[in-house]
Parts: sequence; C-alpha cells; structure tokens
Amino acid sequence: MTRRQFVRLGAGAVAAGAAVKSTLLTPGMAAQTLAGERKIRFVIVGTGIRGNDLLKAARQVPTGVCVGAADLYTTRLEAGKEAWGGEIPTTRDYRTLLDRKDVDAVLVATTDHHHRRVTLDAIAAGKDVYCEKPMSHNVADGLAMVEAVQTNKRIFQAGSQRVSSPVYTKAREIYAAGKLGEVHWIDAHVNRNSPGGAWIYPVPADASPETVDWDAFLLDAPKRPFDPVRFFRWRLFEDYSSGLAGDLFVHLLSGIQTITGLNTAPSRAYSSGGLYHFKDGRDFPDFLETVYDYPGMQVNIHCNQNNAEGDDRTTVYGSKGTLVVVGTGVTFTPENTRPRFETYGWGGMTASQKKQGLDEWNAVHTAAPEALELTESFTLPQGHTFNDTADHIANFFRAVVTREHVLEDEVFGNHAAIACHMANHSYFHHNVATWDEETRKIKG
Ligand SMILES: NC(=O)c1ccc[n+]([C@@H]2O[C@H](COP(=O)([O-])OP(=O)(O)OC[C@H]3O[C@@H](n4cnc5c(N)ncnc54)[C@H](O)[C@@H]3O)[C@@H](O)[C@H]2O)c1
Repeated sequence: MTRRQFVRLGAGAVAAGAAVKSTLLTPGMAAQTLAGERKIRFVIVGTGIRGNDLLKAARQVPTGVCVGAADLYTTRLEAGKEAWGGEIPTTRDYRTLLDRKDVDAVLVATTDHHHRRVTLDAIAAGKDVYCEKPMSHNVADGLAMVEAVQTNKRIFQAGSQRVSSPVYTKAREIYAAGKLGEVHWIDAHVNRNSPGGAWIYPVPADASPETVDWDAFLLDAPKRPFDPVRFFRWRLFEDYSSGLAGDLFVHLLSGIQTITGLNTAPSRAYSSGGLYHFKDGRDFPDFLETVYDYPGMQVNIHCNQNNAEGDDRTTVYGSKGTLVVVGTGVTFTPENTRPRFETYGWGGMTASQKKQGLDEWNAVHTAAPEALELTESFTLPQGHTFNDTADHIANFFRAVVTREHVLEDEVFGNHAAIACHMANHSYFHHNVATWDEETRKIKG
C-alpha cells in the first residue's frame, strides 16, 4: 500500500493489532530454584484457608522445609499437617515456635489484625518474615512493621503473590520498554458473585471455646463473648479486617506497583460504593470503587461481590498502546497513532476547502508511515503447573539466603496497604482521603 492509499483509507482500515504474535511465558522462580541452595527452615502461624495454600505451595519449593505450625483453632493444626503432607510440631501458641533457634523464617497467615503482633514478635526473635497481604490492619501497624524490619535488618516479604508471577514480570518488561508511551490511567477490578466470594465461609460444628482460643483471637479488638461467626468470617468485620480493600484491592494495587514501578502511597483517594445484597450484619460494602491519584497517574479500582463479569483484570492505558493483564496472560495492543488526515474536523467546510486541506496535509506528510507494532500476547502454557504462590515463597527463601531485598518488601507492601486504608477511610468518612507524608497519616 502506498502512503497516499493509506492516507485515503484512513486509520480504521488498517486495524492496529490485526496480527497477533503469541508467546508462551517461561517458568517462575520456584521452577528455577537452583540445586544446592540451602533449605530454609520455616514455621507457619495461621493454618486456615491461606495458611494451607501456603503450605501446599511450599511443598513445590525445594529450598524450604516446614518445621512447625501454630493456629488458635485446634482442628486447623491437623489441617496444617495435611496441607504440608507430613508430621510437624504444632501449637496454639506461636511464641513457642519463635523461641526455637533452628527456625530461620516465619510465614504469617493469620487474620489481618494479628499481622503486626506476630511480625514484630518474629523479628524480635531474629526471624525473617513472609506476611500475608494486606500487610497491615491500619496505618499505624504498617509503619511499626516497616520500622521493625529496617531497624533489625530482617528480610520481609508481603504476600501478594502476583508480584512474583511470570505474567506480571512480562507486563513490567513491556511497560519498562516504553511501549505504552505516556501512561496516565490504570483501571483494575476483581468481581465475584457467590456467597463464598462474599466471604460467607463455613463455621465448623466443633467450633467452641475449647477448640478456639477466643481471647487470643480478639487480641486488641473490643472484648466480646465467643462468636464463631466472627472467628471464621472475620473478613466481614472491621475489628479484624479491611473488607474489600484489604482483601482484593491490595492484590490489584500490588500488581500495578509491580508493572509500573510506582512505590508510593497515593496522594488522594475517593471511594464510593454500598452494601447492596449481603446484609448479614457485616461492616463492609459489597461494592467498592476508589479513584486514586498517584504521581502523574490516575488509578481506578473497583470490586463487586454481586456480579462476576470481568473476573480479575488490570488495564493500563498508554498513549501508544494498551496493556491488559488477566490471571494467566498479558496482551499489549498498540494504538494506531500514525499521522493521518482526520476528516471529522473538515465536516463543516466546503468540498474545495476539504480538498485544499488534504493537499496541504499530503504535501507535509511525505514520509512513508512507520510500521505498526504488532499486538503481542503472552500466556502461560496450557496445563502449566506454575503457581505464583510457590514462586513468591521461592523468592522469599532466596532472599533469606542472599539478604537481598525482594520486590514486595516492607515499603512496597506498606504502600499498597496504605492505599487500601485510604479507600476505606474515604468510604466511611464520605470524604476525599489524602495521605500526609509529613505526619504519615491519612487526612480527610
Ligand atoms: N495472598 C492471597 O491470595 C490470600 C488469600 C487468602 C487470604 N490471604 C490472607 O491470609 C490471611 C489469612 O486468611 P485466611 O483466609 O487463611 O483466614 P482463615 O480464617 O481461614 O485463617 C486464619 C487463621 O489464623 C489463625 N490465627 C489468627 N491469629 C493467630 C495467632 N496469633 N496465632 C496462631 N494462629 C492465629 C486463626 O486461628 C485462623 O485459623 C489474611 O491476612 C488474608 O488476607 C491471602
């Protein structure tokens, strides 16, 4: 096609992305773990849903071995052993595990309101810490954790495992190569539509004050009589959880920090939403949307528990292209930004004016148009066995050996958590939340 033909056909006729180049992603850190690396001896605190996932994933990581587990609910000590697939010492009091000199690291998979206490105790005992997301239950907790990690020179990794996923590593490469041009807007969401997706988890028949250490569970939260619903569905209550923001926003924000390299708290957050369907006494909305201001960048996050369309998706909009990240793949679609004679503005002119405009445009634009970038798509191979949690744990174990910072360290994790707390602050105060870096507090 000659330049002139291209100009006449206009942008729409040569669709950007008509051809797609597809590439399979390569395995992550767990699969690349080198033989001969020292085995990290770790214990786990919290063997509920996530703790069991961590233990199962850790079985795929040859550089670590579980040497103990703690949980406040007796039956979960058995669940932890099943998940690890072997006998391990268990206890309801995690502090007895921290006393052991043969333990290098602690995986913290407790309810959010225990993250600070267990992390600080583990650090005081000289251990490195992998702490589940959201890193903190409130801003003060996060700041205390950052200080403890840095003062004691410990390795800390927060637990948004997508940070170690080959999918996000590829998205980060595409972003860093500048393929997107100027990026000023990112939109991300996780949507669900089921009782489980709205945290209505089973309450086991054997739950009782004998099988559950209720006082230990409450910790600094308001005292109240034993309530198994609060224990097993703690995500519904602000005393222990941060709702949709702490549960799901944090993953999306950690992914965005990974892709863009943003590592700061947002300057402003405005939230809207509501509790529309799951009116079961919970404290949090079942739809939450937050608009964030980051330096030079607008980030919109929304999570819906009443419609699953769209699943888990992050879209990065740039002046030269769009990056879409879903669970198992990433696609870069270039924008057609080649100069073209734009006819719309000439619509109010005469035919001869239009012709004159086109002639002038053609006279200036003599060079052949640049080739369009290809749409590129990177996916995990079908039937892949990559597990981003295993990769994340492997990254942590390696850092425990090398003493090098992981990407999702205490600063990164704290920034993502602060953004979550700002989302809730804005929602509950019906106000714009701002981050004051000087006082290190949320205002508004
Ligand atoms: N990274 C992810 O994808 C992911 C997924 C789910 C949950 N999480 C996070 O993992 C954490 C746990 O969530 P969950 O779904 O497993 O909850 P859960 O209720 O299933 O399990 C939490 C367990 O922690 C135990 N616990 C609390 N305080 C303890 C303490 N001081 N000592 C010993 N045990 C203690 C409780 O007894 C409970 O069994 C949360 O912070 C959550 O946000 C992360």
